[in-house]
Amino acid sequence: MLQTNKALKTDALGAPPAVKNRSVLDWVAGIAGLTKPDRIVWADGSKEEYDRLCDEMVAAGTLRRLNPAKRPDSYLAWSDPGDVARVEDRTFICSEHQSDAGPTNHWIAPAEMRRTLDGLFDGCMSGRTMYVIPFSMGPLGSPIAQIGIELSDSPYVVTNMRLMTRMGAAVWDVLGTDGEFVPCVHSAGMPRAAGGKDVPWPCNKTKYIVHFPESREIWSFGSGYGGNALLGKKCFALRIASAMGRNAAQDDGQGWLAEHMLILGVTSPEGRNYHVAAAFPSACGKTNFAMLIPPKGMEGWKVTTIGDDIAWIKPGKDGRLYAINPEAGYFGVAPGTNDKSNYNCMASLRSGVIFTNVALTDDGDVWWEGMSEPPAHLMDWQGRDWTPANGKAGRKAAHPNARFTVAATQNPVIDPQWDDPEGVAIDAFIFGGRRSTTVPLVTQARDWGEGVYMAATMGSETTAAAAGKQGVVRRDPFAMLPFCGYNMSDYFAHWLNLGARMQSAGAKLPPIFCVNWFRTDANGKFVWPGFGENMRVLKWMLQRVDGHGSGEEHVFGVSPGYGDLTWDGMAFTESQYTTITSIDPAQWREEFKLHDQLFAKLKAGLPQELLATRRSLEAKLDKQPG
Ligand code: GTP
Ligand code: SPV
Ligand code: MN
Repeated sequence: MLQTNKALKTDALGAPPAVKNRSVLDWVAGIAGLTKPDRIVWADGSKEEYDRLCDEMVAAGTLRRLNPAKRPDSYLAWSDPGDVARVEDRTFICSEHQSDAGPTNHWIAPAEMRRTLDGLFDGCMSGRTMYVIPFSMGPLGSPIAQIGIELSDSPYVVTNMRLMTRMGAAVWDVLGTDGEFVPCVHSAGMPRAAGGKDVPWPCNKTKYIVHFPESREIWSFGSGYGGNALLGKKCFALRIASAMGRNAAQDDGQGWLAEHMLILGVTSPEGRNYHVAAAFPSACGKTNFAMLIPPKGMEGWKVTTIGDDIAWIKPGKDGRLYAINPEAGYFGVAPGTNDKSNYNCMASLRSGVIFTNVALTDDGDVWWEGMSEPPAHLMDWQGRDWTPANGKAGRKAAHPNARFTVAATQNPVIDPQWDDPEGVAIDAFIFGGRRSTTVPLVTQARDWGEGVYMAATMGSETTAAAAGKQGVVRRDPFAMLPFCGYNMSDYFAHWLNLGARMQSAGAKLPPIFCVNWFRTDANGKFVWPGFGENMRVLKWMLQRVDGHGSGEEHVFGVSPGYGDLTWDGMAFTESQYTTITSIDPAQWREEFKLHDQLFAKLKAGLPQELLATRRSLEAKLDKQPG
């Protein structure tokens, strides 16, 4: 499974005594032999190490220290303009059989990919340091947690991984002499000539984000940005973990789920506590929803955050589904975040943050579109002078996918159970896309099968979170299109089987809801104010969980009528409400054609149950007037 050619002697690696795992040592030696770094540093995860690496990056021009009076202990990185987002078209699932990757993933035969990687990684770290980064996804030692080790030539990756995961020396003890780990190899792909000048953001035009699901390896080349480089996140916690969870079903009959979901806790004014997991595609509001502040008129409700991006979900012995957040930090979208849209997020960002690709103010702080009125002068994310006149001409000061990295513990509304190794019991699932038309504000599926259908056929307008064209509607099943590490049809079957099995064991499954905050009016403006006001929709969903929320049944399930939502403290007319809740049969006939295209693509192995649901929904639609 691992590279062993040109291996160094393991006793020359300088590993700390706590590293007692033979396969770790052999693997590190093999990768060092291949990539040929000048030296190897075993990261311990300490604050001293973090500070030292930040100092080195400040000296190298990779980071700027922000004004400590304004933004203590915080830094700003500007990436190479060609390395600003995930690269979905350079992301590969290299299973032995192409059918196991499925038609929604890019596939290259493992042997061929290994040849390519051998070439790319040969000497790619020369002139640089290779960091060994041990991390745990999930609370250290939790039965749900998994260990990874990332080898990277990027100090930016080391510091970000420290904020995003449980990273450091304690992992070696959990790993022991023969514990399992997911090996992650990352290189910016820019070897440094001896004595030569470095660039602030090393990267390579050639990019490969590669997963071998059978041997559970990750190889990433050419990018230093976000999910391309912080390999615990999308590569491990979603692509590899989703395949692990499905494969586990072959052993124990049910397996588990790795999902692109936030997890939140919500407490009602009466003190009842609920947990909700919600999947929205990238840059569609997970972080905002996970930190929501109830609006005027809904005092007494409280939302707390367990996670903002990824959930690992396992059936518990009591027949409920338990979720943990495998991460320990947030890598969130900066633009659009402000005290009004997400006060708790802004409060999380007061200190200890690494910002990437936001603008720099003249007093050494950060700024992005949507934070506040633009200052008279800035340095934009490419280090160029910027004034509001540039903004009016359409030049953004912050890149639309500019992000912050911050430890979860900085969140003022972190849930008391966020770190609980057992996870929290899920009361409801929510799926939401970014749709300017067609999809109503909220719908409850009548049963698990219809819920899986809604999630599987979800569409969303693409965002700057991935390279490529923005704003085009594409099918994004379960918000997992870029993140499912195996065949999407098998993924649907896994969801259906898990539900069926739990139900036949007597479990009451969480209801599934579908939401859309993004319907627009004739002028292209969002009609629903969103953000904190989403609490009104959340409250209705929780009433439905408790079996007492009233609603109206229609073709796709049950939705609240105008009178079924709480409007205290908010002016929103019934006719506005109709604009975002109406179901236009003509639009839905077109929508069904898009479902059919997806199903045609996924034909091999597609669960027949989805096609049956498709027929029954269409029959209901045919009975509608219009
Ligand atoms: P990833 O981190 O990329 O997975 O995304 P995320 O889902 O966590 O995205 P985030 O919460 O950071 O969403 C950012 C974008 O969603 C910004 O453009 C926000 O303005 C927008 N957004 C979030 N919530 C709402 C909402 O309720 N209504 C509207 N209209 N926009 C929203
Ligand atoms: C996303 O794109 O869904 C993210 C950011 O959460 S990244 O980690 O870059 O994938
Ligand atoms: Mn995400």
